[in-house]
Amino acid sequence: MAETKPIPKEDGMDHSLNLLREGYTFILNRRRGFNSDVFETHLLGQKAICMGGAEAAEVFYDESKFIRSGAAPQRVVKTLFGQGGVQTLDDAEHRNRKQMFMSVMSPQDIQRLRDISKKQWDMALTKWEQMEKVVLYEEAQEITTRIACEWAGILVAEQDVKTLSKDLTATFESAAAVGPSHWQGKHARNQLEKWLIVLVNEIRVGKLKVPEHTVFYKFSWHTDLNGDLLDVETVAVEIINILRPIVAISVYIAFVGLAIHHFPEEAAKVKSSDDETAQRFIQEVRRYYPFFPALVAQVREDFVWNGYEFPKDTLTLLDVYGTNHDPKIWNEPDLFYPDRFIDWKGSPFGFIPQGGGDYDMGHRCAGEWVTIEVMKISLDYLANRMNYDVPGQDLSFSVVSMPSIPNSKLILTNIKRKM
Ligand code: HEM
Repeated sequence: MAETKPIPKEDGMDHSLNLLREGYTFILNRRRGFNSDVFETHLLGQKAICMGGAEAAEVFYDESKFIRSGAAPQRVVKTLFGQGGVQTLDDAEHRNRKQMFMSVMSPQDIQRLRDISKKQWDMALTKWEQMEKVVLYEEAQEITTRIACEWAGILVAEQDVKTLSKDLTATFESAAAVGPSHWQGKHARNQLEKWLIVLVNEIRVGKLKVPEHTVFYKFSWHTDLNGDLLDVETVAVEIINILRPIVAISVYIAFVGLAIHHFPEEAAKVKSSDDETAQRFIQEVRRYYPFFPALVAQVREDFVWNGYEFPKDTLTLLDVYGTNHDPKIWNEPDLFYPDRFIDWKGSPFGFIPQGGGDYDMGHRCAGEWVTIEVMKISLDYLANRMNYDVPGQDLSFSVVSMPSIPNSKLILTNIKRKM
């Protein structure tokens, strides 16, 4: 029997309110307070183990120790994930479904995404030159909606783009919200699912033709472990798992704009022809700014790690934000310093803005390359291909509200294309 020791434990009945109050820093604050990467608390009426750091992430991604099914709170499933989505599956069923996602992430698919993204940014810039002011976060939602639909294989009528963009945005803006904004997210998801169910049915009966390499085609015809087509509701949920997060890149685009404004000397290093500097800048945006706070799983079977007992079924949270700001991994983590990535060894567990571990076998974000490429193109436009002013506005952002977005949503004026 391995020797065990007690997990540092937070006193009190339930700390869900503190989680809401402290947001992204809830776990990090306590890891610092306990001087421990693991601690126990009470959240959502149950005992929960929280952990952070590279070692903890590696354990969290060990499938023999944790499962995802039943772990995510219902409010997240009903807005962000969708019922029966890949995030909630385990083992062979998960791998089968994940393979469907990874099948649309080939180098050719990513090149097509780049071409579409450039075209959409170019069209947006032409439009912006005629506008008095542009709210970058909102415009980025529209750009990414267009990118998402075209890349996934469907054409959306011009008059429907705004509504679609708003609905997709509502699904990720509402995940941590309570009250009307949460209901709005649920309503938006229902509308989206209904729309997509019709399209998938039309594809299956041959009424709607979509190219074979696209998300719409591949997901509509994907078969499960028994060789059966997925039910249409599930296909709709999974197509939203592509469209929604592509639109969520608009959050990162707002932060790219903010980083260019706040760190002009770093932005000046980024040149259109230099992919490496752009990559480093983008990696630092993903590390530095808050986006995904934490991941949740449940202990599969009792186990002991580093002397701590993890009892079966215990809710466990992995600190995403805190791991990306962990001083044991990152020198001066609160400094925006893209060059830190020059010597970065690419650890799959120390840098986890979109999860860690393996893409095909585990739950790591299927869209990490999509995100990075869309962000790089956005950076190129914002840093190299246009002139603009950033008038006085509230550029602060919260480490409590989720997702965190610059308060003014980043207003740009006097936009002119660089010749
Ligand atoms: C906007 C920036 C994005 C962020 C911050 C983000 C973050 C994440 C995180 C933290 C996870 C959970 C990892 C885990 O559970 O271990 C995840 C999963 C996932 N993401 Fe992303 N993501 C983003 C963009 C995308 C994009 C663009 C796509 C698709 C094109 C995508 C598709 C997915 C899918 C399908 C999963 C579930 C993977 C699984 O459970 O196996 N994400 N993402």
